[in-house]
Amino acid sequence: MTAPKTPRPARQQFSSRVRLGVTGVDEISERFATNLSEGGLFVRDDKPPLVGSLVLIEFVLPNGQPLCRAAAKVVHARPATVPGDKTAGMGLQFVKLDTVAQSIVDKLNAQVQISRPVSDTATPEPQRLTLSPLESPLLAPSGPIVGIDLGTVNSCVAIVQKGVPKVILSPQGYDTLPSVVFIAADHEVHVGHKAMERMILDPLRAIYGSKRFLGRPFTSREVQSYGHFFNYELVAHQNGRTAAKVGDKILGLEEVGAHILRQLRSMAEQTLGRTVSRAVITVPAYFGETQRAAVREAGKLSGLHIERILNEPTAAAVAYGYGKAMGKTVLVYDLGGGTFDATVLRIDHDAFDVLATDGDPFLGGSDFDDRVTEYVLATFERGRNIEIRKDPVAVQRLRFAAELAKRQLSEATAAEIDLPYIAQTPQGPLHLKATITREVFERLTQDLVDRTLTLVQTVLDRAGVTSDDLDDVILVGGQSRTPLVRQRLFERFRRRPSTAVHPTEAVALGAAVIAEMLHAGTTVKLADILSGSVRVVRPDGQTECLLRRGTRLPAQVEFEVPAEKGRAEIRVVLLRGEEPLAKDNTLLGSLSFPPIASSAAFGAKAKVVLRINADGLMTVSALHPVTGEHKALDLSLSGN
Ligand SMILES: Nc1ncnc2c1ncn2[C@@H]1O[C@H](COP(=O)(O)OP(=O)(O)OP(=O)(O)O)[C@@H](O)[C@H]1O
Ligand SMILES: [Mg+2]
Repeated sequence: MTAPKTPRPARQQFSSRVRLGVTGVDEISERFATNLSEGGLFVRDDKPPLVGSLVLIEFVLPNGQPLCRAAAKVVHARPATVPGDKTAGMGLQFVKLDTVAQSIVDKLNAQVQISRPVSDTATPEPQRLTLSPLESPLLAPSGPIVGIDLGTVNSCVAIVQKGVPKVILSPQGYDTLPSVVFIAADHEVHVGHKAMERMILDPLRAIYGSKRFLGRPFTSREVQSYGHFFNYELVAHQNGRTAAKVGDKILGLEEVGAHILRQLRSMAEQTLGRTVSRAVITVPAYFGETQRAAVREAGKLSGLHIERILNEPTAAAVAYGYGKAMGKTVLVYDLGGGTFDATVLRIDHDAFDVLATDGDPFLGGSDFDDRVTEYVLATFERGRNIEIRKDPVAVQRLRFAAELAKRQLSEATAAEIDLPYIAQTPQGPLHLKATITREVFERLTQDLVDRTLTLVQTVLDRAGVTSDDLDDVILVGGQSRTPLVRQRLFERFRRRPSTAVHPTEAVALGAAVIAEMLHAGTTVKLADILSGSVRVVRPDGQTECLLRRGTRLPAQVEFEVPAEKGRAEIRVVLLRGEEPLAKDNTLLGSLSFPPIASSAAFGAKAKVVLRINADGLMTVSALHPVTGEHKALDLSLSGN
């Protein structure tokens, strides 16, 4: 075997070296090829080098000989705050691969159909998008259609029976199913309440809150910035997406979602006594194409044909207003377990018109739990020479207790946390006892509530709606039960927010209503808007906005894309986002015309038409100016 070349820049410029043990090329292909091709890797390190430093990565054989090398730049670094802090480490972005590493990547690229951005200068955040064609089963599935709210913390399934939408209960009798998947050491998978029971004893084997990362590339800012706050490890998976690693098992987040959907499906089948293979699934309104595609993929893996992907606030508004023949402008305030979103809708009889929407995927009930957990931990550890935060089981027990206390504080003015044997010391076991008052809880979490109100204002402004124009504020999401939320909304709008819908069931119930209408062949009037602008990349790496966020659907735009400078190739690269530079937006998809041997090709411009129909279905067609060749691309913004 020829000695692998050391990548430039030269070795002495590296501020540290990371050695990863492998058994051979096959193992690198299996475990790291996507990291190499997609450009990212997270490495644990108590004292990571500064952001911007160069690190040499060596894949080393058991005999100590390096097999291949890569140079990487530190893009984010988190030093250990306490000894043994497992969240400490660095996010690395590869800048150079040696020939062996490059050949692994080339092999992978040959296997997977990819769409790449226009050019190096115009490259958005490294990611790969496989555009799955729209599902068009030869034999249309039949049978009932259920409505599913695939939530960050809780999921819910509902169906319309005898004209009434009803939630289907879990085997334990609950109206929601915890969105938790537990992977036992023998690889047995437990879902929902069973997963929660096991999670308390073995927290490192539970995958929770994964919707926050579903459909996001592993190298995305969200995964790199927030991924290490979770108990389970996030790693790069096929297509550059994100997977969870539990022990030696790697599970794509689509597969995690599929486990939850399978459980919901089986609950529905047991209740209805028949096969269920069709569903309407909801997603946050601001979910982009890759996230919607991931939900579709999860549905497919679970054996469900996704009839429609519906926006959560629209589903909640349907639960609130369907069949009531009202004319109202409403704000849907949805503070769930993991995400917050605010949407202004116009309800006119049976038409639901989204005027503006936005959300924060990292603001929800679990952030409230974190505040209580941290407060109790800090108070308990203070003055005692012990750090129970290092014990994952103790922290998990406390998190569960904190969440329960938080819920009790929605009714009572104080709540107790009582955890015997929280830690063992030479003097005997320790008992954690704490009282949290509502006042303390509100002090700990008021900034989170403030953040929701700031976003509400942004959305109202975007919709051009004042508080006087609003007829109702509809509360959705379990965390909206918190009195401080209601109080702040009351202060802001001078009216009591509506509790007409059940906060944790409304989304699934609304989805069930839409499902029933699809089943009955009734037309559903759901007018949507683009939740993020669509842009095209220009050869200088800048972008041009084709359709602005908030554009009413359906929409159509025609534009021209010139051949790249000095090359007779034409590439049409579409992005979603609000930033002028290509690299700061998210790749939607691309199509290209290869170079042709004709001088007429230089400077020629392809004519492109982009259409998004009322259901959010996006199609792009392009015409080559010289050859007359026609190319088309299907992208589904709403997954229809
Ligand atoms: N009575 C209550 N008071 C305060 N918080 C509550 C109450 N009941 C539930 N919660 C919180 O609501 C959150 C779950 O809400 P929900 O089921 O609406 O979330 P989700 O739909 O899974 O999340 P998302 O919509 O963000 O995907 C949890 O953080 C839970 O602790
Ligand atoms: Mg929700």
